[in-house]
Amino acid sequence: MSMKQYLLTPGPTPVPDRVLLAMAQPVLHHRMPAFSKIFNEAVEGLAWIYQTAGRPIILNGSGTAAMEAAVVNLMSKGDTALVAHSGKFGERWVELCKAYGIATVEVKAPYGDAVDPAAIDKALTENPGIKAVFMQANESSTGVRQPYEAVAKLVHAQKDVLLVVDAVSALGAWDIPMDTLGIDALVTGSQKALMLPPGLAFIALSERAWARQQKSDLPKYYLNLATERKAQQNGETAWTPGVSLIIGLREALAMLEEEGLPAIFARHDALARATRAAMTAAGLELFARAPSPTVTAIKAPKKADGTVIDTDALVKHLRGTYGVSIVGGQGSMKGQVFRVAHLGYYGPFDILTVCTALEMSLKDLGCNVELGKSVAAAEEILSAWRKQAKADASAAKK
Ligand SMILES: Cc1ncc(COP(=O)(O)O)c(C=O)c1O
Repeated sequence: MSMKQYLLTPGPTPVPDRVLLAMAQPVLHHRMPAFSKIFNEAVEGLAWIYQTAGRPIILNGSGTAAMEAAVVNLMSKGDTALVAHSGKFGERWVELCKAYGIATVEVKAPYGDAVDPAAIDKALTENPGIKAVFMQANESSTGVRQPYEAVAKLVHAQKDVLLVVDAVSALGAWDIPMDTLGIDALVTGSQKALMLPPGLAFIALSERAWARQQKSDLPKYYLNLATERKAQQNGETAWTPGVSLIIGLREALAMLEEEGLPAIFARHDALARATRAAMTAAGLELFARAPSPTVTAIKAPKKADGTVIDTDALVKHLRGTYGVSIVGGQGSMKGQVFRVAHLGYYGPFDILTVCTALEMSLKDLGCNVELGKSVAAAEEILSAWRKQAKADASAAKK
């Protein structure tokens, strides 16, 4: 028998059996009432997780498709965008803007840090023509939670500046109430907290953003959100949708609704705290100065002889020896960090699996590691969380 595999990466994330079975149903034609019903229920579920009164738009594609849709629908020729970034996904906003000839003002922070709202405010004041601020909720390449709430406040103080947030590795894992915060465009993808395979991208716009969309003159066809909005209001999509994925989406959202937003957010918070405590207990150093509830990045471990382990080799060892898939660093962080995910269909034993596989791998590769230490640190947090979660659930029933 081949070794049992554990997919513990920050996307794609594990898909629950219930969702896999829903997707195994016969394919429906997308212009028939039976599919429209499923589609509308999926959109309602999305609006619930987005915490918006609007109707999020479902697109075929990965998260980048929704990022591109934000750029081509909200910007116009000659516009300038502010991109606040400190990682590979933030840099993608710059690349997308450049691909469409949109000038960018970049507000950067070092990898591992969050961007600075005061620096964004200063850049907005110095560049009064800026039409939109693009940023992440969670920078997956560094495991940093970005301060989009503070940025929303200062963007609102400016006239005619939209806030566009990439929440691909955040939405559905922690509280991002789009309407309350005043986010103008919120983007996510299927293969993260929404517990689906890759293939769908989602974007919701505020009324302000829809008004801007009508004026946008950048080239667009497949990603024209006005065309999609018109079709989706009637329970259809402009083009052939990923029918099976949408059936799965409805099921995944039903599962999330059964859990409830407070419990979902508490679970992600506990898994993140357990992961950080475990890594620290194993003598490792966290990479992010503003760590996120969904991805933990850890600096390359040192061997007993003082040399540093290449994290790509570590990741390969976990996968090859123990069947546990985690990821390494991207871009200039390649070989220097590894990342443990805790978003989507994750429970305590996923974290404990990573901890044990990591401890054993570190030992195999020549590090001084006390087996069981990181597991014990995680267990303390995870058992306290379960105790609290059970007490909350029984209090809610009374
Ligand atoms: C923060 C963030 N933004 C955007 C994306 C979109 O990437 P993709 O198009 O591969 O789904 C990802 C995927 O990992 C991500 O983590």
